[in-house]
Amino acid sequence: MSSPAQINYSTSQQKVGTLPLVALCKYVAILGLFLFFFYMVLFDKNHYQPFDLFATYKQKWPSSSSTKIISTPFSTPTNLSHIVFGIAGSMNTWKIKRFYTQAWWRPNITRGYLFLDRPPTKEFLPWSPSSPPFRVNENVEVLKLDPKVMRPFQVRIVRTILEMFRFGDQDVRWYVMADDDTVFAVDNLVEALAKYDHTKKFYIGTNSECVKSNFDFAFEMAFGGAGYALSYPLVAALAGKLDSCIKKYSRAWVTSDLMLYSCLSDQGVALTHNPGFHQVINFI
Ligand SMILES: *[C@@H]1O[C@H](CO)[C@@H](O)[C@H](O)[C@H]1NC(C)=O
Ligand SMILES: *[C@@H]1O[C@H](CO)[C@@H](O)[C@H](O)[C@H]1NC(C)=O
Repeated sequence: MSSPAQINYSTSQQKVGTLPLVALCKYVAILGLFLFFFYMVLFDKNHYQPFDLFATYKQKWPSSSSTKIISTPFSTPTNLSHIVFGIAGSMNTWKIKRFYTQAWWRPNITRGYLFLDRPPTKEFLPWSPSSPPFRVNENVEVLKLDPKVMRPFQVRIVRTILEMFRFGDQDVRWYVMADDDTVFAVDNLVEALAKYDHTKKFYIGTNSECVKSNFDFAFEMAFGGAGYALSYPLVAALAGKLDSCIKKYSRAWVTSDLMLYSCLSDQGVALTHNPGFHQVINFI
């Protein structure tokens, strides 16, 4: 038979043994939950709804998926020699349009090509060294992209991107496409492009200054009259798909710009607006 003192002793021993264990379990559980929450908010990349505080915290760190403007300088800055120009021209209009191109072209410095629909006539031979070297586009009819392809002239122009890529120029960061009456402020263009990461897929230009053109085509489309820039990786990805894209939409084409815009949209590449490009419509 145990004395009251003994009973008290054994009860308090029970209390001493069980209470801290329960409390400890609670603390461990709470700590576990807290750590789990902390992990979810700070380290889980799929967690897109952090508190604003954490969003700010995250934004301070350049993430690998940030594509806009370069955050770290490249080993070498982009200069004029990294740009290859593709100018869409035609023999019928070159006589007048060549003055626009010659106004900005720097012989032996600017790299690129004038694309023509047919070889130059005698009048233009020998070819002027103050004009870009010419190339004759592949014949769209021969390509048999689609027997009912509409506007083969526009298909020829959009395919200059593909043909130019196949020339395999070295150390190209940007392909800049333009019309034969586009005038570039070359140094400004270099400065503008140097701000973007040429190792990412970029489609840079802007919409027309004529609002009707934007309604007719698209507000998110670059216009060739102003010129636009495509990064090398973008052109490399597009090259293998352009012809099948042209086939896919063969009857939808109105202009080569719309063609390119549609093909790039199919690949999930949106236009990066740069207001330094100016598309002016001449209604005369
Ligand atoms: C442009 O940069 C390259 C290095 O990427 C360099 O080799 C070349 O000399 C530079 N060209 C000019 C014109 O500054
Ligand atoms: C361009 O280079 C060629 C040789 O590659 C040379 O004959 C010609 O004089 C150069 N033109 C200019 C304007 O420097």
